Amino acid sequence: MGRVKGYTQPMDFAQALQSIPALPSLAALEDLRVATLGLNGTLTLQLKELGALPPAERKAKGAELNQQKQQLAEAIAARKAVLEAAELERRLATERVDITLPAPAQPVGKLHPLTVAKEEIAAALKTLGFVHAYGPELETDDYNFTKLNLPHHHPARQDQDTFYLTPWTALKDKYVLRTQTSNVQVRSLETVAPPFRVMGIGRVFRRDYDLTHTPQFHQVEGMMVEEGTTFAHMAGVLSEFLRLFFGQQLKTRLRPHYFPFTEPSAELDMQCLFCKGGGCKVCKNTGWLELLGCGMVHRNVLAVGGLNPETTPGFAFGAGVERLAMLKYGVPDLRLFYESHGQFLRQFGQAPVAAA
Ligand code: DAH
Repeated sequence: MGRVKGYTQPMDFAQALQSIPALPSLAALEDLRVATLGLNGTLTLQLKELGALPPAERKAKGAELNQQKQQLAEAIAARKAVLEAAELERRLATERVDITLPAPAQPVGKLHPLTVAKEEIAAALKTLGFVHAYGPELETDDYNFTKLNLPHHHPARQDQDTFYLTPWTALKDKYVLRTQTSNVQVRSLETVAPPFRVMGIGRVFRRDYDLTHTPQFHQVEGMMVEEGTTFAHMAGVLSEFLRLFFGQQLKTRLRPHYFPFTEPSAELDMQCLFCKGGGCKVCKNTGWLELLGCGMVHRNVLAVGGLNPETTPGFAFGAGVERLAMLKYGVPDLRLFYESHGQFLRQFGQAPVAAA
């Protein structure tokens, strides 16, 4: 006869039936069910043994056992309902849900530091009257170089390690991944009538990869074309742009430089953010940070828009977004922007603002 957890003796039917209404818990009730009606329960085994009885006794014994089985099942179900109702009562009386408790905090995504930098750059330039303009990342050689006063033979083309998408020999309609956002200048000159101030912020590509270069990075380009624009306007706009972006007024200086698309050209330096000009590691002890290239738009470039530098001059500038972001947020290594380490990224930026 079966012997089950909690019952050392095979269960007697009458005794089992009688004990049910007094069983104290669902667990005890389940033990009894297993001891009687379970796979090796008393009643189950008795039913299995029916076949061994002489046919004359079998029928009566079978009916009796089945009736016992039914009685037990009903008694168990009834007790179970009572115990479950009591259990529910107990839980309702003792358990509490405090609906005023704050929900467990969920990690919230943040904007990538480069996205934040691009937005802050755009906000500063917008204040100065610049509006967004665009140029494609997959660009023709014409817009990336030739129309920017960089004809095919120009030596300055070699400064930019270009990804060419069509063979060098197919000179007509040659495609490149743009190496600079300056293509936005050409596209604006061709489509917008002066006076205008445009900014182009986006991805550029060069075949370069080391500590301070990634094959894809970002630039911001600005161009203002308007009657009476001078080099002094350029100096003023740029120093104001940097004041707005970095949130502090630091001295700037212009150094003569060469760019094919501007004449005269300059590079703009700003006093080092970290040592305020005293000299430190970041500025290599010079006290100055080289921030951007700029100049008066070259007459050959203005000519793309049919403009005359005597009547509608302009200035332009270009800077690396990563460089501006590294200086503003104190990021020591360019590659951190592209390696997607959560620990690094979580330090920056606000949570994305839900669209209105
Ligand atoms: N396109 C230049 C570069 O990639 C940056 C630049 C310099 C842009 C002078 C300009 C500019 O518009 O006037 O190095």
